[in-house]
Amino acid sequence: MAQIPGQTLSDLDIPSLEAELTNQSPQKILERALSLFDNLSISFSGAEDVVLIDMAHRLNKPFKVFSLDTGRLHSETYQFLEKVRKHYGITIDVIYPESGAVEALVREKGLFSFYEDGHTECCNVRKVAPLRRHLGTLDAWITGQRKDQNPSTRASVPVVQVDGAFSSGDRSLIKFNPLANWSSADVWMYIRSYEVPYNALHERGFVSIGCEPCTRPVLPNQHEREGRWWWEDAGKKECGLHAINQKA
Ligand code: ADX
Ligand code: SF4
Repeated sequence: MAQIPGQTLSDLDIPSLEAELTNQSPQKILERALSLFDNLSISFSGAEDVVLIDMAHRLNKPFKVFSLDTGRLHSETYQFLEKVRKHYGITIDVIYPESGAVEALVREKGLFSFYEDGHTECCNVRKVAPLRRHLGTLDAWITGQRKDQNPSTRASVPVVQVDGAFSSGDRSLIKFNPLANWSSADVWMYIRSYEVPYNALHERGFVSIGCEPCTRPVLPNQHEREGRWWWEDAGKKECGLHAINQKA
């Protein structure tokens, strides 16, 4: 729900808001998002997007956080989610896949079908369907996407957009990407400067972190995305959470 007196969500002019925010700092974008919407949530993957939680915490405004537990995360990621929950004293809404859908997939194709016929089916069951369900309860969401994460699919990610992939009927879902214009180096400068807790996997060569069977460390100067779904083409390395990037 938009909070400007006399203004409703449908009055929001997203292209104007984007023009206003595009050169702003992540903190300013986050602050604007939190003042415009009360029913929005930060989507936290358990990796370096923890900076969004740290920034929101410093703004001293109430904020919500959710994380999709696919059932296939590293134990370090589960430990990190718990560390972040306690460190900031926040509630994390952990969202689970529908058990019947996971059971049917595993019964039919086993536990590692993604190595044989691609990640889409498993990601749909374990990530996208639960995300769709959760986003149906929100007016807006905040992600840690950055342009530099994937030159094939994220080079044009705006700081705010209507999320056409998860809007329904006449209900527009708004998506904020406050880190869109930050580089990985900017994120890590922030983490170190503010002593933000981070996932222990980062100390072992992991840069981009997703599910355990689909993530591996990268070598020096390898692009971070090469550690994700490494058996697939770069242009396919989106799991559907950010389907709007591929429609653009
Ligand atoms: S993914 O689509 O390839 O898995 P990526 O790992 O680059 O996404 O993360 C980009 C952003 O997507 C994160 O900063 C976060 O906002 C969101 N995201 C990714 N995975 C999750 C997750 N398991 N739970 C919640 N949000 C997630
Ligand atoms: Fe399944 Fe891999 Fe997608 Fe995780 S990243 S949901 S394990 S295919």
